[in-house]
Order: sequence, then C-alpha cells, then structure tokens
Amino acid sequence: MLDLRHRFPAITEGVHHGWARFDGPAGTQVIDSAIEATSAWQRSGNNANSHGSFAAAEACDALFEQVQGTIGRLLNVSPSSVMFGPSTTANVFSITRAIGHDLRPGDEIICTQLDHDSNVSPWLLVAEDTGATVRFAEFDAATGRLHPEAVTKLLTDRTRWVAVTGASNAIGTMPDITTITAAAHAAGAKVMVDGVHLTPHAPVDVTSIGCDVYSTSSYKWYGPHAGATWVEPVLLDQLHAYKVRPAPDTGPGRFMLGTPSYEGFAAIDAAAQFLLDTGMDVIQAHERQLFWRLLDGLLSDDRVTVYGPHDLVDRAPTLAFNVAGHSPESVARRLAAERIAVWDGHYYALEAMAALGIEGAVRAGIAVYLTNDDVDRLLDVVHRI
Ligand SMILES: Cc1ncc(COP(=O)(O)O)c(C=O)c1O
Repeated sequence: MLDLRHRFPAITEGVHHGWARFDGPAGTQVIDSAIEATSAWQRSGNNANSHGSFAAAEACDALFEQVQGTIGRLLNVSPSSVMFGPSTTANVFSITRAIGHDLRPGDEIICTQLDHDSNVSPWLLVAEDTGATVRFAEFDAATGRLHPEAVTKLLTDRTRWVAVTGASNAIGTMPDITTITAAAHAAGAKVMVDGVHLTPHAPVDVTSIGCDVYSTSSYKWYGPHAGATWVEPVLLDQLHAYKVRPAPDTGPGRFMLGTPSYEGFAAIDAAAQFLLDTGMDVIQAHERQLFWRLLDGLLSDDRVTVYGPHDLVDRAPTLAFNVAGHSPESVARRLAAERIAVWDGHYYALEAMAALGIEGAVRAGIAVYLTNDDVDRLLDVVHRI
C-alpha cells in the first residue's frame, strides 16, 4: 500500500498529530518538499521581482517559468499560458470580468447545479452587469450524476460560455467534461472547467478535454494557498484584461495583478512535482481503495444517508452524508472529539445543496495521507452516534 505519511510533517508530528484528516477537500496538509522549497527560496536571496537586470531578478523569472512548466506537465497544457493568483475564485473573477466586457444582452451562459460557487457567482454577477442570461444545468439528485445532456440541451446559438466543474467538491461526481466541451464548441460556445476538486484525485489531460479555461488550486493538492489557471493562448491574449498599463499586453501577466508570491511559486512547483513523481494513477488507485472502505461502511448504516453516487464510477473520493436525527455540525463535533476532522455545512456548493433538498451535510474526503485505520475510526464513531 502507498505510504506517504512520512512526507507530511503535520500528520506525523506537531499539535494536530494523531488526527485523522478527512478535511482535504477544504485544503490538504502540505508535502515536506513544498514546505522546504518555500523556506529555501526565502533564505536564498532570490526574492526580488520580475524582469530586472541582476541575478536575483533573473532567478524570479526562471522560477516563474519553472512552475509554469511543472503545471504544464501536470495538466498537459501549454506552460506559457498558465497564470497564478491568490485563489481559483480570484482568478475566475478576473477572467469573467474580462469576458463580461464582450458579452451583450441576450447572450447566454450555462452554469451547473454541481459547481462550487466560485464557478457560479462570478457568472451571475457578470450577467447582471451585461444583460446576459444564466441557465442552470440540473443534476439527478437521486444518483448525483450530471449527465452531459443536462448541459447540452441548454445550448443555443446565443450560448457564449459553459461553466462546469471537473468534480463536485460536495458529492464527488465527475461529469463528462470532454463530451460537454465538444458539444459546447460545436454550438460556438467556450468552456471554463473548475478543476479544483478534480486535479488532486485523477490524471488530468486538459488538451484532450479541449476546454478553454481550466483552474486548479494548489492547496487542494498538498501545496500552498494559490490558484493556477490555464487559459487557451489565443483567448488569453484576446480577452479584455483589467490590468495596470505597464503590465504585459500578452500572456498570463495580463491577469496576474501585482507582484506574485515567488515563495508560493517555489512551493507550488514542489507540490506539483510531488504529484508527478508519485503518479496521479497511483494516487487515484490508492484513494479509491480507501474511499470504497469509507463509502461501503457508511452505506451499511441504516441511519446514514450518503448523497451522490453510491459507487466508484467517475467520482472523486469525497462524499457528503447525514446521520438521521443529528445535525451535520453535531456529527462533525462528535467526530472532532475523537480527533477526526470532517467538514459540515454547504462548503459553497449552494446549488447542489438546494438540489438535494438539504441545508448541509457532513463531508469526508480522502487524501493520500489517510489510512484504513483512519477510515475505520471514522466509521466506528458514526456507528456509535
Ligand atoms: C470545487 C471547488 N472549486 C473552487 C473552489 C475555490 O477555490 P479557491 O479557494 O482557490 O478559490 C473550491 C474550494 O473549496 C472547490 O472545492
């Protein structure tokens, strides 16, 4: 069995040592190499800024190119079109603001009920500003599946953008984004994929998905808090970027507002390299085994309702559940009392909660540092509630 726990200091030592951390969908613990990379960068004297005429400034440019290259390999995208910002939410707002400049009344945008609000609210706001209309693709609440037709049937000759998640951060469902993208392109629309919950859990090939924008956040895959977003190169230069005049007129610098976090780049690079070195297929296989133990154990308890798919097909190892007669918060507190961290509430998946007819649920997600023992501890507490 894959054993990477020794690579996570927060798991093996320190004040939270001994906790079973099922809170990865809200942010994972950090891999040792990313922690060390940040520290090494800040000790190195390379901390400067871009495009200067001395060695440290050149090191900043080299680091930026290096992290772009590593993200390029992780996602299979053109590295020079990868931009970075404080979060995916911030990056999506920057890009949708630019998209809004070219939207007209009557234009249509398709969002989905499965998406985290960071791929919903920016579109609702831009529609409000421009007179465009947002239409929602519905998922099947009984199975948790978002069928491609639920999206494609909403396409019209006025559809400009489709905003769809690669994986639900609430119930784990992975829609068929390749089919959705092909249909959207055939109808003349572009596609933004929220890859925040997909990237840590499955091999991702953005070029074969074919979408126009793909965003991921490194703090969901053992790195620092940051968003990394790829924008198709022609679109990247065409969009009406809201930027300061001296910022670059082409490339990702158009959307990177102010001086970026170079210490963050060092850590993002190390975390992405960790995923590449371990292999996303290896991570996926490891997580699936743990996840099945969790899902099966919860499904065996009559008082537990598990939302979303009850199998391993096309899903991230994340689930939401409730225990009859107990609020999500009380279940989360009960688990916390036994040093088990889960999330409770809606985790910004507002549309998904509404579609499921609930206000919130307990969420547990698998990460690479969890073990069978952690899963058994969680199940044991839930069964005893
Ligand atoms: C699926 C999904 N999309 C987007 C986001 C927002 O990411 P960020 O916090 O980087 O803005 C999250 C955060 O939880 C998420 O889970």
